[in-house]
Amino acid sequence: MTHLFINIKELIQVREASVKKVSGKEMNILPTIKNAFLIIKNGLIFDFGKMSNLEEYSFDKKTDCTGKMILPAWCDSHTHIVYAGNREQEFVDRINGLSYEEIANNGGGILNSTEKIKATSEENLYNESAKRLEEVIALGTGAIEIKSGYGLTVSSELKMLRVIKKLKENYDIPIKATFLGAHAIPTEFKNNKQEYLNLIIDEMLPEIAKENLADFIDIFCEVGYFTVDDTDKILTAGKKYGLTPKTHVNQFNSIGGIDISIKHKALTVDHLEVLSDYDLEALKVSETMPVALPSCSYFLSIPYAPVRKLIDNGLAIALASDYNPGSSPSGNMNFVVATACIKMKMTPNEAINAATINGAHAMNLNEEMGSITKGKLANFFITKEIPSYNVIPYNFGNNQIQSVYIKGKKV
Ligand code: NIG
Ligand code: FE
Repeated sequence: MTHLFINIKELIQVREASVKKVSGKEMNILPTIKNAFLIIKNGLIFDFGKMSNLEEYSFDKKTDCTGKMILPAWCDSHTHIVYAGNREQEFVDRINGLSYEEIANNGGGILNSTEKIKATSEENLYNESAKRLEEVIALGTGAIEIKSGYGLTVSSELKMLRVIKKLKENYDIPIKATFLGAHAIPTEFKNNKQEYLNLIIDEMLPEIAKENLADFIDIFCEVGYFTVDDTDKILTAGKKYGLTPKTHVNQFNSIGGIDISIKHKALTVDHLEVLSDYDLEALKVSETMPVALPSCSYFLSIPYAPVRKLIDNGLAIALASDYNPGSSPSGNMNFVVATACIKMKMTPNEAINAATINGAHAMNLNEEMGSITKGKLANFFITKEIPSYNVIPYNFGNNQIQSVYIKGKKV
């Protein structure tokens, strides 16, 4: 099946050859072709170029995109979309003056979601999560990472990861699974964290590996959650089973999470709302990529990751939604891109690079996602008629997407 798209006002993020990631000043360069065509064949990008270079071509379907632009689908490299119920009461509690930390200390937060996971069947958890996945696909997300971490028992963590596996099987977008058993210390292990770490290492990990349920391993390295030493242990254990680290670090405190993640060759370090000069210097000489989560900062009213400083120091940044019930109950990558521009002072070019090519790298998906490149998956969206792609962040909160294509099929 061949589908030809013609008269595309601007085809965004075109790369002749696949690049791993864009860093520093390069992040402000977004390659595009004005007045372009795009040919999709059997779910993949087959060809593209200027309309003036379009040769006689036989095709099954033709779509005229006059006035509209095409972008590669967003790559959302950090989400927790498998969860049960909601936590809107905590949202109201925060409006009334409680902090995220105080809510967590009163048994709310992650442990609130843990109770809900326990009480929900795998089937219902799947149905709730699939709905969220479909919602974000309609908003332009064409590849996603999903974490466990609201189970915190062997059976509940497996339940979450099996749901992710089923989503992988039933949906056409690339999905990566991350095991986040070390997300919080369950109440029953409150006074014996070591025993919980042993449970993760000795019981959860072997079972997860046996069923091949995870691609990455994650930990929440933070005061009141897990220490640098715990992070060292968990990442070491994960590596034995071939799981690449991606970590939650520096959300509220800089306690050495970046250093230990780099030591373990983490693919990404995520959050970074609090960043010391030492952390910055460590990142500058590593391959580990920072991932910023602006909707989390927006929703919790906490500082934004200093991405301007990171980019100006030559680093690559990816943007992700952190879609979860506690700190970012939205998976709208258009909003993430807008907030990155408005609040973090990223340029639209930088933000689009961060949410496409660098987002793909943050999931090890560069060969198939992140840019308009021949041979990559035909996961992209067509905008409404817009004057320039800058209006995607400019008209924040408005939907500029007219249609989304996954593996060449309109959804
Ligand atoms: O990425 N920081 C830790 N984990 C999630 C929030 C989890 C929750 O509140 O449910 C995050 O923000
Ligand atoms: Fe998160």
